[in-house]
Amino acid sequence: MTSAEQDLDPVALATRFPKGFAWGLATSAYQIEGAAAEDGRGRSIWDTFARVPGAIADGQTGDVACDHYHRYGEDVGLMARIGATAYRFSVSWSRVLPAGVGAVNERGLDFYDRLVDALLAAGVKPLINLFHWDLPQALQDRGGFANPEVVGWFGSYAERVATRLGDRVHDWMTFNEPAVFAFLGHADGIHAPGLRDWPTALRVADNELRAHAAASALLRALVRDARIGIAIDVNQVTPATDSDRDRAAAAEWSSARDAWFLDPLFGRGYPQLGLEPHRAAGHLEGVELTDPPAGDIDYLGLNFYRRDSVRARSAEPFDWEIGARPGTEQTQMDWEVAPDGLRDVLLALHAEYAPREIVITENGAAYPDSVDPDGRIRDEARVSYLARHVAAVGDAIAAGVPVSGYHVWSILDNYEWSLGYERRFGLVRVDFATQRRTLKDSGDWYRRLIAAT
Ligand code: FCB
Repeated sequence: MTSAEQDLDPVALATRFPKGFAWGLATSAYQIEGAAAEDGRGRSIWDTFARVPGAIADGQTGDVACDHYHRYGEDVGLMARIGATAYRFSVSWSRVLPAGVGAVNERGLDFYDRLVDALLAAGVKPLINLFHWDLPQALQDRGGFANPEVVGWFGSYAERVATRLGDRVHDWMTFNEPAVFAFLGHADGIHAPGLRDWPTALRVADNELRAHAAASALLRALVRDARIGIAIDVNQVTPATDSDRDRAAAAEWSSARDAWFLDPLFGRGYPQLGLEPHRAAGHLEGVELTDPPAGDIDYLGLNFYRRDSVRARSAEPFDWEIGARPGTEQTQMDWEVAPDGLRDVLLALHAEYAPREIVITENGAAYPDSVDPDGRIRDEARVSYLARHVAAVGDAIAAGVPVSGYHVWSILDNYEWSLGYERRFGLVRVDFATQRRTLKDSGDWYRRLIAAT
């Protein structure tokens, strides 16, 4: 073996992980389920947003997506074939409560009931995420997450799901990437509900943190041996140059975005360093901010994809250019590949907040895969991305960070939000015309890694 091959060798990598380490796969409801108008499902804000002209790159919706609602049996079979020991999926609030509150749609819950049973029968441990951005439209019509009543709405939704599934599911997550939902959906307008108003975005963030705390307490009361977490996306943030201005901008951005959620979750309230630029930029106009309650989590979920460099265009707050440095290795998302960044973020989270456990709740890469004439998908770039990031997790564990699991985003190529179907993240290729699934080389690589652990 050359040293390059050695680095990709799943058997060698596996020796760096303890037995019992959770090797998982991740998805979310709107991105894979389809069956948008079936069995009583209500409309969500993504059904609405995907129909706004120009909002989605290929003009597509999640109406059909991977048709997982009907093909979940085959998909669980693929998970078993890969040998995954865990599966992180989200529940569609609109399937369970079509109007967001009020009467439960039992047929919606029946689907998740069947899915959980299929997973358990296949030896795959379910991890339920309660919110992956697809708020019922009826609740958006009442102000959505900007309305403080959402704390109660979310709590009763959580209660309903836990009452039905909590006898078999012990691993829970309240929110996926609350910053993306709040900021991209309510300040940048590129995700549902498509608003562009910073004060609204910061109210949404605040209510997410409060809803997390309230729902966690309810889950603890309802689920025996519950393990509760939340998935925060923390990419590595670095100054684009060594100038004082870029260094200040990077520190302020990381505080105004990442610590904005992490500090309150760990009982510290909102961070001063982030408050200043938000205030100076007028983002807090009309917002009365009091510190939300601490999070009470068993594990911190970390979604990690890339390194973001921050360049200050001027001395103004938020006048920052954020992205990959030119000339660096990037995925099809134009995200800078930075496995050392994953190791460093893990070390930094451990040093700063010392969560009891960290679970990598998402990591993966989009590449324009092609199918070879023999039908095989030789996605070497994805194998290399995954191998280097898994190795970085191994480095962090060796340095004493308590990482207990790793979930690849994603098992299936799926609906990549405003980018539609043209960004393939799957270990399994989905031919969206026929819904045919084909395991890629990366899926086989992950299978060998899991088998060797
Ligand atoms: C994350 C999302 C997930 C997926 C990946 C690529 O931000 O949580 O749904 O879109 O990015």
